[in-house]
Amino acid sequence: MDKFKELRERCESYTDCPLHATRTNCVFGKGNPAADLMFIGEAPGEQEDLTGEPFVGRAGQLLDRFLYAVDIRREDVYIANILKCRPPNNRDPLPAEEDACIKYLREQVRILQPKIIVCLGRISAMKLIRPDYKITKEHGQWVERGSFFMTAVYHPAALLRNPRLKEDMLRDMKSIKEKLSSLK
Ligand code: URA
Repeated sequence: MDKFKELRERCESYTDCPLHATRTNCVFGKGNPAADLMFIGEAPGEQEDLTGEPFVGRAGQLLDRFLYAVDIRREDVYIANILKCRPPNNRDPLPAEEDACIKYLREQVRILQPKIIVCLGRISAMKLIRPDYKITKEHGQWVERGSFFMTAVYHPAALLRNPRLKEDMLRDMKSIKEKLSSLK
């Protein structure tokens, strides 16, 4: 069976983490199974929970605009989250929830073997790059991790709250596009 399909089925039937009880849908992740570029957010919000797809609400629509601005097609990337179930009222993920769920993300990365991983926001960067990651200081900087490069950008929801950050976001997205082109 298709590796992603098998993993999705395992993820959907996982009930050890209590968040499975309050979700509408498991938001496994979506995108091109041969993508070189992977985006990783924190956890599904309301629209994602309702549709089962990552980054489809207001923050997702803003992410789409930045992808468009640097000529990256959403169909060419893969998008996932650390948590696959929505935390009630969009609260921050608890460490125990991240620890329970991260095995699915690790497996997604193993199957995909992306060349670039972009953390969307502080929580994703602190979990995946370094626990003391400072998004305001370090966004857009590159780190090499074995077979792939990583960076973090502001979470699109942060840009909705503070539009002045959009300039930095555009600069970081241009850098991602350049890195992607250089690795082709
Ligand atoms: N915020 C996230 O971190 N992930 C989503 O899928 C949607 C909003």
